[in-house]
Amino acid sequence: MKVKLEEIYNSAVKELENVKSIENIEELKLKYLSRKGELNSIKKGLKDLSDEDKRIVGAYANEISQKLENAVSQKYDVLYAEELNSKLKSEKIDITLTGKSLPKGKIHPLTSTTKEIVSILQSLGFSLVADSDSPEIETEYYNFDMLNVPKDHPARDMQDTFYTNLASNVVLRSQTSGAQIHVMENQKPPIRVIAPGRVYRNENINARKNNFFHQIEGLYVDKDITLADLKGVLNEFIRIYFGSARPTRYRSSFFPFTEPSVEIDVQCAMCGGKGCRTCSNTGWLEVLGAGMVDVNVLKGAGIDPEIYSGFAFGMGVERLAMLKYAIDDIRLFYNNDRRFLEQF
Ligand code: DAH
Repeated sequence: MKVKLEEIYNSAVKELENVKSIENIEELKLKYLSRKGELNSIKKGLKDLSDEDKRIVGAYANEISQKLENAVSQKYDVLYAEELNSKLKSEKIDITLTGKSLPKGKIHPLTSTTKEIVSILQSLGFSLVADSDSPEIETEYYNFDMLNVPKDHPARDMQDTFYTNLASNVVLRSQTSGAQIHVMENQKPPIRVIAPGRVYRNENINARKNNFFHQIEGLYVDKDITLADLKGVLNEFIRIYFGSARPTRYRSSFFPFTEPSVEIDVQCAMCGGKGCRTCSNTGWLEVLGAGMVDVNVLKGAGIDPEIYSGFAFGMGVERLAMLKYAIDDIRLFYNNDRRFLEQF
């Protein structure tokens, strides 16, 4: 039996030498060292031996299995290291290779222009209103009634308003001016606020007009506010925003919620004032409406016009961006043409 054991051991060692993969090692373990393996089948024969032989042969059988197990596990370590190395070699990645760069998004020019205007006005002392004071879906009460635009007054037609089917008096706001009323309801003077946002009008779309656009509303109410304050603030705003002198003109105008009212035009940047399609051959683009807050508006909001006065303004964000960057058509802002957007 001892001889038999030795034979098994020798042939196992020989086979082990030729083993080339971990997979083959597993096969070899199965063949020699498992419960059904060759060594075990010898050990099963021990029961037929004398006690003395059992002891000797049993011990020898254990020694042989132990030796074989050690040899197998050594070989295993060697093969494992070899396989790992070759894997590392073949699957190596070059981390110095530059990756594919993803196209970077850009800030939309209307967003950046709004931010810029807001930050200039903040530097002039105005604070942003809460979103809840400047909703896009408004009642006629805020969009018109409290702004001194009586029912059936033709001024309601000045801004072709989109009515909703939520209720007969609910509109998509045609101007950000309603924010003035919300603020005055919630705040006592001194008030110095701005409200940026989107407005909607049923317009015939052309190079200067779209059926939605963006405004920045401003309101300043305090003691002793005059038209000189209005001019001072708005001139300073235009100077900072354009960075360089741009020909500007004040025109007297009419808004139901201001008295007196003005509009400010800036010389058309596309034609330098000569007249073109963008400015409808006038040489000027209107960028904002403004005026001294009408006494009726102050009264309606519970502010005593004997003590307080104020000015208000509403700027067109698209118009200001068009003038600064010489964009000749308002529709470019909404087409999402990357050739246009990538320039900003
Ligand atoms: N809401 C006016 C418009 O959309 C612009 C405007 C004019 C706003 C005068 C004002 C203002 O606050 O005082 O045409």
